[in-house]
Amino acid sequence: MAKAIVRFFCKSCGHEASKWLGKCPNCEQWNTFSEEIVEKKTSSAKLWIKNTTQKAQPKKVVEIIDGNEQRIFLPDNELNRVLGGGLVTGSITLIGGEPGIGKSTLLLQLALNVQKKVLYISGEESESQLKMRADRIGINNGNCYVLCETSLTSLINHLQHDQPEILIVDSVQTLATDAIDSPPGSISQIKECTAELLRFAKETNVPVFLIGHINKDGNIAGPKVLEHMVDTVLQFEGDRHYNYRILRTLKNRFGSASEIGIYEMRGNGLREIENPSEILISEREENLSGITISCAVEGIRPILLETQALVSSAVYGTPQRTSNGFDLRRLSMLLAVLEKRCGFQLGVKDVFVNIAGGMKLEDPGLDLSIVAAILSSYENIAITSEIAFAGEVGLSGEVRAVSRIEHRISEAEKLGFKEMMVSKYNKGLEEFKTKIKIIQIGKIEEAFEYLFG
Ligand code: TYD
Ligand code: MG
Repeated sequence: MAKAIVRFFCKSCGHEASKWLGKCPNCEQWNTFSEEIVEKKTSSAKLWIKNTTQKAQPKKVVEIIDGNEQRIFLPDNELNRVLGGGLVTGSITLIGGEPGIGKSTLLLQLALNVQKKVLYISGEESESQLKMRADRIGINNGNCYVLCETSLTSLINHLQHDQPEILIVDSVQTLATDAIDSPPGSISQIKECTAELLRFAKETNVPVFLIGHINKDGNIAGPKVLEHMVDTVLQFEGDRHYNYRILRTLKNRFGSASEIGIYEMRGNGLREIENPSEILISEREENLSGITISCAVEGIRPILLETQALVSSAVYGTPQRTSNGFDLRRLSMLLAVLEKRCGFQLGVKDVFVNIAGGMKLEDPGLDLSIVAAILSSYENIAITSEIAFAGEVGLSGEVRAVSRIEHRISEAEKLGFKEMMVSKYNKGLEEFKTKIKIIQIGKIEEAFEYLFG
C-alpha cells in the first residue's frame, strides 16, 4: 500500500503546508491548521475524462467573438436577477447559507419548475424525504431526477452515461472522492470535488449549482479557495424568526456583485417578492410617534422600510441602547450628535431602535430616518406616513448625500409617497422630474424645524 501522504490545511483560507503551523502565513489567523491525509490513488480513480485532446491556442483579443455567453432563463426572477440575467451555461455557482435557511428548498424548487432535464444530487436527504418536500412545493417538471449519492466517482459515472442539462449538488461538503483518503467535508476533499465538477461544467457546458454550508464565523465552510474556484458565489440569509430570505451575490463573473433577491418562506416553498417595499411597510390606521419610513438601498435595489424608535426615561442608572437591524455603534454616534449639536437630553433616556421585518441593513442612508424616528418619539409627535427619508448624518450634524438618490426617489414615488427628505448636497436633483415634493436639508436642525417646527 502506498504510504499515506499527510498535509496540513488552514481551515480559514485553505493554505496548504507540509508541517503544522501555529499561525497561517497566508491569512495570519492563529491555530487554524488541521491535518489531512491526501494520498492520491489517481490510477484507480474514474473521474471526469477529458474528451478533447486539442490544446488551447493563444488568440488575439480582437478576434475573440465577444460576450455571447448563453444564458438559461430560469422560472425564478429573483434568481435570474442575482445571477446577472439568467444562468450562464457551463458556469459553476456556489450557494452558501446557515443550516435550515432554505438552500435545499430554493434549488429543489428550481429543479421542479425549470423545463430542463435536471439532476439533483442529495447527500443529506433520502429519496422519500426529497419526495415529501417535492410534493409540498409542487412538481411541474417531469424531467427532474434525484440521486442520493455521496461518492464523486459514482456521480461522475452517472454523468458520463446520462448528462443532465442542469446539475445541482446538495451539498459539496457531503461529497467525497475515492482519490483522496480524508473524510467528506475536509478541505482537500472539498477542493478536489469542486475541481472535478468544474472540469465537468467547463467541458460539457452544463451549469452546476453547489450548496455549501456556513461555519460559525459566517464563511462558507471549507476554505476560501472554493470561492476562488467557482464563477458565482451567492449567499442565502435571513432571520430565523421571520419568513423573509435574502439571496445576495458575493461574487459574479457574469454580472454585478451587488444584486439581491428577496423571498418569503411559505408552507409550500419560497415565494419571490417582486416589490419588497410593500411588505416592509406596515399598514397604519393612525399616525404613531417614533415611526418613519426610510428609503434605503440594499445592493443596488432601493427598498422602503419602516424604522422605529422608542425614547423613554431611563429607569436604571445607566441608560439602555438597544438596536435591532441597525449598527449599535452608529446609533450611539447619532445620539451623541443629537445631544451635542442639537441639545436634546438623550443621555438620560433609554433608546430602542428597530428596523421592521427583521432586515439588517448597512446603508448609511438610514441615518436621517432613524434620527427623525428618535426625535418623533422624544417629542411624542407623530410624523406623517406620507414622507420618506434618505440621508447620512455626519458628526457635526450635517446631512450628507447618499448614493442612487434618483432610484430612491422613484421608488418612493412608485409607492405613493408625497414628500421625501434628502440632503441638499445631493447634486442634480433640480433637473430630476418627479411628482414627489423634495425637501433638501443641510443640517438635522432643519429636519427638526420642518417636521415639528
Ligand atoms: P432547507 O431547504 O432544508 O434548508 P437548508 O437546506 O438551507 O438547510 O429549509 C428548511 C426549512 O424551511 C425548514 O425549517 C422547513 C422550512 N420549509 C418551509 O417553511 N416551507 C417549505 O415548503 C419547505 C420545503 C421548507
Ligand atoms: Mg439542505
